[in-house]
Amino acid sequence: MSESMTSFHNAVTSLDLSEWDSNEQASVVGDLEQGKVIFLPHLAFSLSEQEKHLLDPVWVDPKRKNISYQPLQDKLNGVADDAQEPAVRALLQRHYHSCLQLISAILPEYQPVLHTPTNSLRLHPVARWTQNTSWRKDDSRLHVDSFPSRPNYGERILRIFTNINPHGENRSWRVGEPFPTLAERFLPRLKRYSPISSWLQNTVGITKSYRSHYDHLMLQMHDAMKSDMDYQKNGPQVAIEFPPGSSWICFSDQTPHAAMGGQFMLEQTFLLPVNDMHDPQQSPLKVLESMTSKSLI
Ligand code: SIN
Ligand code: FE
Repeated sequence: MSESMTSFHNAVTSLDLSEWDSNEQASVVGDLEQGKVIFLPHLAFSLSEQEKHLLDPVWVDPKRKNISYQPLQDKLNGVADDAQEPAVRALLQRHYHSCLQLISAILPEYQPVLHTPTNSLRLHPVARWTQNTSWRKDDSRLHVDSFPSRPNYGERILRIFTNINPHGENRSWRVGEPFPTLAERFLPRLKRYSPISSWLQNTVGITKSYRSHYDHLMLQMHDAMKSDMDYQKNGPQVAIEFPPGSSWICFSDQTPHAAMGGQFMLEQTFLLPVNDMHDPQQSPLKVLESMTSKSLI
């Protein structure tokens, strides 16, 4: 494992915060937009005794990876047993509100512009993925996030994670190189974009909207990273442990990441328009547009 280009110090910024509604005045926007993981070692999300009963993979619909919730539509998906739905819904609603408070504390400039919130309760052990999934879906391989059926036209994917493991088990990650280096490495190997196939995929319903050139490159990069075993083993990367009772934040479309172990996590996703970033030039969209000298949307 190479740590020469990617040291823990370059990959992570720690912030000592223990309340979701903290009065913290310092924004972490600069570090976050550079692709760093913002690590909050003491930001725990407490569960009631009753909620602790929800920490069991039996509550996840076997057809899904996780339980997910869209708070603005009050839409809950993936709970195996209807009787558990009210408790899961209440937990995910409370988690969403805590995440909003955290955003206004440490990323206040994003508060008015983040949209399309979705959060998830992840109950399966990470080890299960490696056994039961194809390499494309295996998130224990380093990758940047890209949604195959939901093109996002360059919008940023901001994610807040919290380890809620009750048995002391860490969530273990690997974090990779900065996005510009990653893009330089993989761009020359990616398949050409075909507007006709994008049109076809949209027409037959493979995608929910037309896949842009940007979305094509990001998905290709996701696949190229995951399928390159030499890169997985020897590419620049650093291992990071997230203990129970800690939280972390990153732009998962920019920061190469892989989950290597752990079980029980809460996760909140928001989308952010590129032009609402403090420095849009750091976005994968602008980096790729500058490298290809093309407009990609
Ligand atoms: C991922 O976003 O790739 C997975 C992260 C995790 O489950 O820890
Ligand atoms: Fe991911």
